[in-house]
Amino acid sequence: MPIDTAADYAAKHGLPAAKPPAQPGEKSLAGQKAIVTGSSSGIGRSVALGLAQAGADVVVNYSSSEAKGLEVVREIEAAGGKAIAVKADVSQEDQVQAMFAQALDAFGTLDILVSNAGLQRDAAFDEMTLDEWRRVIDVNLTGQFLCCREATRIFKRQGVRPDVSVAAGKIICISSVHDVIPWAGHVNYAASKGGVMLMMKSIAQELAPLRIRVNSICPGAIRTPINTEAWETPEAYASLMNLVPYKRIGEPEDIAHAAIWLASDYSDYVSGLNLYVDGGMTLYPGFESGG
Ligand code: BGC
Repeated sequence: MPIDTAADYAAKHGLPAAKPPAQPGEKSLAGQKAIVTGSSSGIGRSVALGLAQAGADVVVNYSSSEAKGLEVVREIEAAGGKAIAVKADVSQEDQVQAMFAQALDAFGTLDILVSNAGLQRDAAFDEMTLDEWRRVIDVNLTGQFLCCREATRIFKRQGVRPDVSVAAGKIICISSVHDVIPWAGHVNYAASKGGVMLMMKSIAQELAPLRIRVNSICPGAIRTPINTEAWETPEAYASLMNLVPYKRIGEPEDIAHAAIWLASDYSDYVSGLNLYVDGGMTLYPGFESGG
């Protein structure tokens, strides 16, 4: 019999058929285990809380503040979820490997990686030190490489576990609108995010046959500690709005909603996507008039 439907494909390979439409109150990540890097604050924190709310057990990774990591764990537990806090600097291979080992010790398996840890070290180009360049590339790009590689090794070993998901694993890279929007004064950051885009797409192409899905979320201006300067005064906020056609700043939850969808089987046919969650920031807002 020729394979023409998703159901035929699933039957031939002994996989569960595609998901029926979502049921009200359904926990779309029930039984799944996730690591969210850099989740003691900002976007990562919100993604960790969101995945837990959708039913996943979560590793809350932090690099410096154990207190903040534990606070997120407590919030997840208070809402009835399960989480542990694990310290690791994602730019260090041994620490990344130790974190994944700890996740497996605690939860037994892994289904979702949200590779989120990132930082900015801004400087005018001619004043940027090699240390500033390296630190940003090390955390934002090499850190994503190390975490994606570790997750892939586990997903490949594990294969599909049909009781929790029709995919063998899901990787979500948190990138930025600055993977396509050049950013003066932030050359190291834009270069790191541009790198994440082609790293993610190349991994997605390589791993799709193994039923491992790899996608990115590219946030615009989200209200977090990384960009306080851009929104904390009324003047700064008004000026920021010139860059946001939707005329509001993004909230961390806007990113969490996208992450829950990309981690769930409701996005099962999505791989290699760069999903801009940016209120239209990538729509060349300067061309609203003129051109
Ligand atoms: C940066 C923020 C910035 C936003 C929009 C993000 O990737 O980390 O500092 O506000 O892009 O420019």
